[in-house]
Amino acid sequence: MKITVLKETDAGEPRVAATPETVKKFAALGATVTVEAGAGAGSSISDADYKDAGATIAKGRAAAVKGADVVIAVRRPEPAGLEGVAKDALVVAIMDPYGHEAELAALAKTGASLFSMELMPRITRAQVMDVLSSQANLAGYRAVIDAAEAYGRALPMMMTAAGTVPAARVFVMGAGVAGLQAIATARRLGAVVTATDVRPAAKEQVESLGAKFIAVEDEEFKQAETAGGYAKEMSKEYQAKQAALVAEHIAKQDIVITTALIPGRPAPKLINKAMVESMKDGSVIVDLAVERGGNVEGAKAGGTAKVKGATILGHLNVAGRIAATASSLYARNLYAFVETMIDKETRALNVKWDDEIITATLLTRGGKTVHPAFSGKEGE
Ligand code: NAI
Repeated sequence: MKITVLKETDAGEPRVAATPETVKKFAALGATVTVEAGAGAGSSISDADYKDAGATIAKGRAAAVKGADVVIAVRRPEPAGLEGVAKDALVVAIMDPYGHEAELAALAKTGASLFSMELMPRITRAQVMDVLSSQANLAGYRAVIDAAEAYGRALPMMMTAAGTVPAARVFVMGAGVAGLQAIATARRLGAVVTATDVRPAAKEQVESLGAKFIAVEDEEFKQAETAGGYAKEMSKEYQAKQAALVAEHIAKQDIVITTALIPGRPAPKLINKAMVESMKDGSVIVDLAVERGGNVEGAKAGGTAKVKGATILGHLNVAGRIAATASSLYARNLYAFVETMIDKETRALNVKWDDEIITATLLTRGGKTVHPAFSGKEGE
């Protein structure tokens, strides 16, 4: 059983799908691991590190992919990058399938079975495979570090011989995985933290981290959480009430971190231009939702925007900004998933095609797109 680790081709992707730790674990299951040369460079893992863990280094994509039973990557490979892959190979990555049905159809033609890690169901058994959580958590942490770096003042209160420095005020909008880690990180740095969300369950979580919860807590708020634990899109009336509350609060903040997302929808707009303009000179906003349309008016995807005295950071791939840690967690997520496809006794692949974690993540098989959310949409 050959498992191949691809080198990412996107210049903005420093993460890698395996670490020396997971290479050793795969080997213990009976696999031989091949790593495309240079795959770990962006995450400070050298070819020699992989070799020491027992991997073979392949020079170039064609040699890496040839004869592979399982191919793992961070991002969806280009169809040309999978040329020569075996017809029954399994390819596992963050496939970003929404709106990319044509690319999926092209990849399906290789015959390989493609799995999309971000479609993993949020069931207890699959928590260890949940890439959205592992990466969002790190993005939340890094957002605070980026904000602290761009902010020209200290975050903690400091009592010095020269006088007292006040603590920075940090407001976190959206208290899911990323937001809760942003709250915890900002608290550790000594900031005074407030947070908001539309899901009532978030209130207790925010308060347990020592932050103050601020929200429009009306009847709609009480119903805002779906059975899957996600937020719903809120009504126009709710949005107006929320905007009034935010407008008043934001003018007093030094740093704002926005993380609000609604599955399958564009990110909700939470901060308009007037609100940004009301902020103090030197204040910093980090828009973590920028890849999904952004929470902040004026945020620039992949760049920095200046609006009056405020700086808006719109970094892409924020988890990739702490690539070595992000890779180590992603690699463990992948290992936990691929492990379920390996028979411990025969030490060979044995995919349980009717298992919930397989049916939820499987995109293509036998030359076709098979996932109900994406099949039949190739021409759209
Ligand atoms: P997400 O990334 O989809 O959204 C981030 C946050 O934005 C959410 O808390 C959401 O309620 C909030 N939001 C959406 N619209 C908003 C608005 N208009 N104003 C303010 N906030 C808004 O969510 P994420 O981080 O994936 O977490 C969603 C839930 O899933 C959480 O309750 C989390 O604890 C839970 N979860 C469960 C897991 C499991 O059971 N395996 C694993 C990970 C998360």
